[in-house]
Amino acid sequence: MAEHLLAIDDVAEDFEDILNWAIEFKKMWKSDDEIARNFFPLADMAVGSIYEKPSTRTRVSFEVGINRLGGYPLTLLKNDIQLGKSETVADTANVLSRFLGAITYRCFAHADVAELAANSSVPVLNALSDKHHPCQAAADLMTVLEHFPNRSELKVCWVGDGNNVLHDLMLACGMLGIDFAYAYPEGYEPAADVVSRAEDFADHHGSKMQGYNDPAKAVTDSNVIYTDVFVSMGEEGLKDKMSDFDGFQVNMKLLENADENWKFMHCLPAHRGDEVTDEVMDHKNSIVFDQAENRMWAQMSLMAYLVDNGAWSAMGDMMGVGM
Ligand code: CP
Ligand code: NVA
Repeated sequence: MAEHLLAIDDVAEDFEDILNWAIEFKKMWKSDDEIARNFFPLADMAVGSIYEKPSTRTRVSFEVGINRLGGYPLTLLKNDIQLGKSETVADTANVLSRFLGAITYRCFAHADVAELAANSSVPVLNALSDKHHPCQAAADLMTVLEHFPNRSELKVCWVGDGNNVLHDLMLACGMLGIDFAYAYPEGYEPAADVVSRAEDFADHHGSKMQGYNDPAKAVTDSNVIYTDVFVSMGEEGLKDKMSDFDGFQVNMKLLENADENWKFMHCLPAHRGDEVTDEVMDHKNSIVFDQAENRMWAQMSLMAYLVDNGAWSAMGDMMGVGM
């Protein structure tokens, strides 16, 4: 049982159960099931969320999700707290642990969320760092499983930067034994240590994990095509980066190589006209808003799992999701 969620492979052991729990709980909640509507594992608990960068989906999905699980969400914006000005990450972790039942943290340097976790006595969830975005990957794979419940022979493909979102997506696909291809321009490959972890998972499941510099080759016969912005938060100074991504836009021409029933995914926010065209974003096969909604359900499952008060497994037993 993981103590914290810094990268998605921290919950490798129970990942499939976490996703199935989220899928079942979402269905029950939406059908007004009384048990789901009265499931409050975070009762009497405040959950604090620190943001060093802007957020729409992460902030709203955590605030609403914490509330639905009976907890009290506390959003802590960087400019309003002492962290990074007169207080260290470690001291902040020690203080917040005295008040909160869990902490979520969106930061620049991944080392900061790791340090927060190392000094926190309550679960810490990485709400995006420069290296990982595990909450996004949980929502992404939940969405993939909803749309492809029979995932045999499924191929997921990434086109774009070797960034935080790709890192957790490739780990998550490896963890579920889903074939994964990723295309990136030379010089923008994903981090070698993450690729190695993802390949180990894929090898264990006998699934494929393959990198390409040619987007058309990666996309060939893919069922899911995923992209993200070419310039991430914190990289705004890298003015020349955009031009290195010529040919990596997800458009209808590129999708001619995909399976005819392709689905398009994007973590959002999307820069329409850069990494993806309007035509693809607004296509009937685009499932980007399902993904956005699933941030909340996946995070509810992750929070109930990480607070480890028995409620998650009791609810799982009741839903018939093997724990
Ligand atoms: N996908 C995602 O993390 O979105 P926000 O930056 O709006 O939270
Ligand atoms: N790669 C993007 C993801 C935003 C949700 C970033 O880090 O800015």
